[in-house]
Amino acid sequence: MVKKLNQQKDLFESERSFRLLVEGVADYALYMLDPTGIVTSWNIGGERIKGYAPTEILGQHFSRFYTQPDRASGKPLRALRIAREQGRYEEEGWRVRKDGTFFWASVIIDPIYEDGNLVGFAKVTRDITERRNAQLKLEAMQKQLAESQKLDALGQLTGGVAHDFNNLLMIISGSLHVLKRSAGDDDRLQRAISAIDTATKRGAALTSQLLTFARRQSVNPQSIDFGERIAAIGEVLHAGVGSSVRLAFDIDRTVWPIKADVSELETALLNLVINARDAMPEGGTVTISAGNRSLSDPLRSGDFVAISVTDTGVGIPADVLDKIFEPFFTTKPMGKGTGLGLSQVHGFAHQAGGTVEVDSELGKGTTFTILLPREMDAPRREIADIAQSRGSGRVLLVEDNPDVAAVSIALLEQLGYQVRRVADAETALREIELNGVDFVFSDIVMPGKMDGLGLAHRLREIHPGLPILLATGYSDVAAGVRGNFPILRKPYEIHELSEAIAKLPR
Ligand SMILES: Nc1ncnc2c1ncn2[C@@H]1O[C@H](COP(=O)(O)OP(=O)(O)OP(=O)(O)O)[C@@H](O)[C@H]1O
Ligand SMILES: [Mg+2]
Repeated sequence: MVKKLNQQKDLFESERSFRLLVEGVADYALYMLDPTGIVTSWNIGGERIKGYAPTEILGQHFSRFYTQPDRASGKPLRALRIAREQGRYEEEGWRVRKDGTFFWASVIIDPIYEDGNLVGFAKVTRDITERRNAQLKLEAMQKQLAESQKLDALGQLTGGVAHDFNNLLMIISGSLHVLKRSAGDDDRLQRAISAIDTATKRGAALTSQLLTFARRQSVNPQSIDFGERIAAIGEVLHAGVGSSVRLAFDIDRTVWPIKADVSELETALLNLVINARDAMPEGGTVTISAGNRSLSDPLRSGDFVAISVTDTGVGIPADVLDKIFEPFFTTKPMGKGTGLGLSQVHGFAHQAGGTVEVDSELGKGTTFTILLPREMDAPRREIADIAQSRGSGRVLLVEDNPDVAAVSIALLEQLGYQVRRVADAETALREIELNGVDFVFSDIVMPGKMDGLGLAHRLREIHPGLPILLATGYSDVAAGVRGNFPILRKPYEIHELSEAIAKLPR
């Protein structure tokens, strides 16, 4: 008799501790349903996750945890039927808390049998919203990475083509200068020359966009006060949007200075504004805004200035959105778009150490946001424009391409310089030792052991006072030396060459 009592006590104890365990588990909602789906037990996890006290939920149907559309489609009872037929029901999906908020739930339903009869269901629910958010974020980051790798590969390709193009354009535009002078006042010739000139400039502009996309544009980053800059180019932007579109500005006065290449920034803004105009055939408003943004993303952190161009246009369909930054992707009719505008914007933002984001809603409009890193030094004023002036002195031209060399010689001679030309760095060093020069004008990319940069560094060592000007159609290496040696971007015009020479420290 005593033994039986003890056994009963043990059983009672073990049931009690089991009940305490189930009731005390806070991270899982563990509860029972009767065969029709009425809640018959409840634990602290259920209360914590779903917000109901036991008195509020016992006796209620479990379908109230489902969203309205799920309830309307009969999902709760379907879940019970599947659990019964297949021995288990498992799912991840949205569920609703008492306060109406949603959470992402992992749900398991097991049928419970006693003597072969279904007596109800055991239900286990976990709130995995945070895990799901982390997963989604990871997927978004992976997608972003894949996207940027694809664009990098395209950049390699376009960069090479653009470099060769630049040398061709250099030859055309330089030769034009010579032609113009010898054509005198033959009208027909002058008209033909000016047509070639226009086409060449267009070619140079396109090539420049390609180079920016490839991040091969040799850039001269400097401090920019965005408010000041936007005021200075307001007129160009107004002309860009045309008359049927309103242009508005919303520039935070306390916006930090940024560091970027000014002309690239202006080109990027113009590209965005023109796109915005094209997205609003019926007219509308383009707003250019700027404000400070501090980021602490794993992929990007620090202080940035966010420059946005917002339109009230047609928006971008989801299947197009993935491709808009690719070079030559356009949805515009033949002759209207080249598909290089956003490629330039993308390359520019990344080369400047920032990025570009897009947010679009069909029929409502689109916002492009360029993030540029904050400049810690105060902006410096640009040196006043130096007018094209006639120079004098002896220049050593270091250029391997004979056609480009011929053009450069013609331009330099027009400016009044005596030119000697060599084809590589080693010969240049010898020539300087033998005959001396007043300054050196060298291409960066050259065959041979030493390129233009190597030459410049070597000359700085042995002739610290000798002015050096570098030229390049593109150069990754240029990024490392800007500031140390002035770099002229090919193709250049005669006044640009003249200015660059005049600015050389002597
Ligand atoms: N603000 C915008 N609203 C809607 N669609 C846009 C917008 N900006 C860009 N797009 C889409 O992205 C595509 C690519 O733009 P991108 O500026 O690179 O080339 P494009 O404007 O077609 O040609 P290009 O700029 O070289 O003249 C456009 O053809 C258009 O479909
Ligand atoms: Mg465009």
